[in-house]
Amino acid sequence: MESFVAHVYFKTDNIAHEVEDGTPLIDFCDEVDVSLSFGCTEGTCGVCEVTVVEGKENLSRITEEEKDYLLPEDLEGGMRLGCQVKVRKGEVVLSWKKVKTK
Ligand code: FES
Repeated sequence: MESFVAHVYFKTDNIAHEVEDGTPLIDFCDEVDVSLSFGCTEGTCGVCEVTVVEGKENLSRITEEEKDYLLPEDLEGGMRLGCQVKVRKGEVVLSWKKVKTK
């Protein structure tokens, strides 16, 4: 089977990264050292909110957790919970609000 490579651009930090098709976002955020933070990792705290600037169609489907947590208009506007998202082929551009942790 052919595997695809997705290109993720973390706009907030100006970091670009390539991942294999189907990789959960949370799995490589640590590796690339972006400032996007995670809390519960289960879709209930909202710490990991990201806005998909481009490439909404290149991410995994919206989960029930995201439907519970996010407002329909936010989902419509491209907002997702980073811990719920898997990246598929193509280009994805993400941005988020920087949270001061220190
Ligand atoms: S880390 Fe809590 S909702 Fe994603």
